[in-house]
Amino acid sequence: MALGNPWPTTASRGADGALSLGGVDVRTLAAEHGTPLYVIDEADMRGRATAFRDAFGEAFAGIGSECEVYYASKASLSARIAGWMAEDGLHMDVASLGELEIALAGGMPAARIGLHGNNKSDAELVRALEVGVGRIIVDSTMEITVLAALAARLGVVAPVMVRVTTGVHAGGHEYIATSHEDQKFGLSLASGAALEAMIECFEQPSLHLLGIHTHIGSQILGIDAFEESAERMLGLRAQFAEATGTWLEEIDLGGGYAIAYVEDDEELAPTRAAQAIAGVIGRIVAGAAVAMPRFSIEPGRAIAGPAGVTLYTVGVTKDVTLEDGGTRQYVAVDGGMSDHMRTITYGAEYTAALAARVSEAPGVQSRVVGKHCESGDIVVRDVQLPADTARGDLLVVPATGAYGRTMSNNYNALLRPAVVSVRKGETTVHIRRDRIEDLLALQQ
Ligand code: LLP
Repeated sequence: MALGNPWPTTASRGADGALSLGGVDVRTLAAEHGTPLYVIDEADMRGRATAFRDAFGEAFAGIGSECEVYYASKASLSARIAGWMAEDGLHMDVASLGELEIALAGGMPAARIGLHGNNKSDAELVRALEVGVGRIIVDSTMEITVLAALAARLGVVAPVMVRVTTGVHAGGHEYIATSHEDQKFGLSLASGAALEAMIECFEQPSLHLLGIHTHIGSQILGIDAFEESAERMLGLRAQFAEATGTWLEEIDLGGGYAIAYVEDDEELAPTRAAQAIAGVIGRIVAGAAVAMPRFSIEPGRAIAGPAGVTLYTVGVTKDVTLEDGGTRQYVAVDGGMSDHMRTITYGAEYTAALAARVSEAPGVQSRVVGKHCESGDIVVRDVQLPADTARGDLLVVPATGAYGRTMSNNYNALLRPAVVSVRKGETTVHIRRDRIEDLLALQQ
């Protein structure tokens, strides 16, 4: 495990203490685009995407295989991001009609898109078939029947993978292997449901079974969970070959690679993950003397997370006396749980800092909160901020590039922030800020 850094690679402080990102001063960003504002460091995000592409490509070439990277667009999506991923040779995982349309609008070739979802609608499946997505990951036996009928009606053969729950659960620092999966995704390996579904897909003339897919969780640090799931997936592929005489072409191992949210958090480096996973696969396949499949992975957070920050403007500050006699400085910003869902949803940890200046004032125990009508509306639960943090200060929260804008909402009829990217002194707007007129336009 490597000690991570939650800041984007181009973040730096000028002589006056102001932060710049991608060569653009945060004061300029705030003045031109308003706050809250999601800022993506383009070089950082694309650097992480290509690092995954290269690390997995090279490690799997070393075992006589291939590994494609499907960027999980749920982490952070705009048409421009889809364009970057297309240009940089990545593929893309989408999980709804909306994500599919944005990916296509940004220029991601349909053939490089994988469609996910445990409850895809007929409309989503039909659109995916019409545009010719590269793969549809089927999640239930009901979906196999529905998709086979839709494909037959359209006169096409749908490329599919079966989503498998391997019994490997992972996430955060936890790694528990169980035989039973009490959750909505996929088809169970242990119960035999996965194998049955694979055989069913294989026998449907309007479906082409490419392979099998699994996703074991998110924010995973332990490499052993990935290795275990790869091993179980190879075992399932062998069972299928035994039943049908056919070796499936591809195994997708999903996403879940951990990032650093605060200083000194650990993160899982792509090279280390790639070498370890490829190593295990290489040994198993060589030992069994069977045809080597192709692989794919679906990192989202590890590509988008550390590349993005959120800029806020401080409004009200107040000191609150705690039960132990101490004091907590509450720093309220102009957004909150509508643009930053991860703290209230998962108790996630973040850090924050003054963005436009550095302060000589002592750091005091602080909590960054939003402007919503809920006491749980917390952006950063515990952080040291200067005692002179004041109304009008710009505040930056790093590592908000993944599951930020994509999980945002209009609670309290707040306006969702814009998304911009910065690179070499240039700023590009990806998604404009909501306007009051947008809210009013929905009223009938
Ligand atoms: N592939 C599949 C099928 C997935 O369901 C996911 C995430 C990924 C890939 C990407 O996982 P990642 O590499 O980003 O961990 N909203 C939560 C995370 C939920 C992820 C759901 N699926 C969060 O903010 O932590």
